[in-house]
Amino acid sequence: MAMASVTITNARILTLAGEPAPRHGPAMRRLGVIDSGFVEIDSGRILAVSAGPPPQTTKGRVIDAGGRVLMPAFVDCHTHTCWAGDRFDEYQMKLAGTSYLQILSAGGGIMATVRAVRSAEEEQLTETLLQRLDRMAALGTGTVEVKSGYGLTTPDELKMLRAIHAASRQTPVRVVATFLGAHAIDPDNPRFLDQTINETLPAVAGEFPRIPCDAYCEKGAWSVADTRRLLEAAAELGCPLRVHADQFNSLGMTPLAVDLGARSVDHLEATTPRDLEYLAASETIGVALPACGFHLDGRYAPGRAFIDAGGALAIGTDYNPGSAPCPSMPFAVALACRHLGLTPDEAITAATINAACVLALADEVGSIEVGKSADLQLLHGRDERELAYEFATAGPSQVLIGPTPLRRRGGEASSS
Ligand code: NIG
Ligand code: FE
Repeated sequence: MAMASVTITNARILTLAGEPAPRHGPAMRRLGVIDSGFVEIDSGRILAVSAGPPPQTTKGRVIDAGGRVLMPAFVDCHTHTCWAGDRFDEYQMKLAGTSYLQILSAGGGIMATVRAVRSAEEEQLTETLLQRLDRMAALGTGTVEVKSGYGLTTPDELKMLRAIHAASRQTPVRVVATFLGAHAIDPDNPRFLDQTINETLPAVAGEFPRIPCDAYCEKGAWSVADTRRLLEAAAELGCPLRVHADQFNSLGMTPLAVDLGARSVDHLEATTPRDLEYLAASETIGVALPACGFHLDGRYAPGRAFIDAGGALAIGTDYNPGSAPCPSMPFAVALACRHLGLTPDEAITAATINAACVLALADEVGSIEVGKSADLQLLHGRDERELAYEFATAGPSQVLIGPTPLRRRGGEASSS
């Protein structure tokens, strides 16, 4: 059921209005706040945003926000939400002291999930993905990037991407797929690197033209030289580039990704000050994934230094069964303030408009502006700092994603 017209009145609105471009450095603190105003929506599009009460002529349903904060729905720009199986045994090994890279090099970790995904049906992947997306939406997320990367053969990577696309047609959540065929090294396939670059990538780009291409550049995963070969081939096919770099080891991938014109470099926990400055001075967005540090080892990206150097930072959950079993953007915001040194305003920018820029969706989502999709969340409180202050919460009071009705957790929307 779509709602034709709805007006949300009496709200403290964080518009995040401005150029549909990444916000760098001090600009990350500007939330474009309207202390008390209204947002008028028609068929899922924002028709008007203004201070004061709405005009008398307003049609349709009216929702009184009661002075609470209305802000853009979160954009989760880095996730691995499509997977099968579980890694509970490995979690117990981790609790007993085995590290993430030790588990990976012993043939577990990402490869354990690869085995589970290879033996799963496409429909099963779609179904579990939809269940996870539903929970993410309830936590305030309107857009989710979902990576492949647990197939690592041409048919299995295509199966994952088809499952992600099938899910995107069955959920109000806006889903953006990314090809991550370079997620690990398949130890059973001696031709794996060349096959990924010369066979899987062209097959994927053939079926999903201009799909973004990502790689996990790390010791025990993809080397800088092989990542470069892959990304250059992807660029030739018109695919935007992203990369996981410096999660555990600084290998030199970050400056190379900037030089290759990557949209984002993600992780950055181990980035050197010099590489961080190079990234901050570029058009490439840095993506921090603080749930990883929380779950794995207490190491976090130097978000404060990056923003102070003029960088454009986004944050994501990295939702995945190994390094970040966390669907919650509110928790990512809370962690970013505690461990990356961000202010609440900066964390909100990182979780909305800057994350939308990572996905090239800044014309559509990430701010509350006329013409954009009405992807909104109404918080419980009247001060947005509460979002960063509280943690492990159940999410916002209401969420609206485009033409889909506002939902109250466990029930109907309130209206008058
Ligand atoms: O971003 N480290 C590489 N990829 C994911 C983890 C995936 C997994 O462990 O299954 C990450 O942390
Ligand atoms: Fe990741």
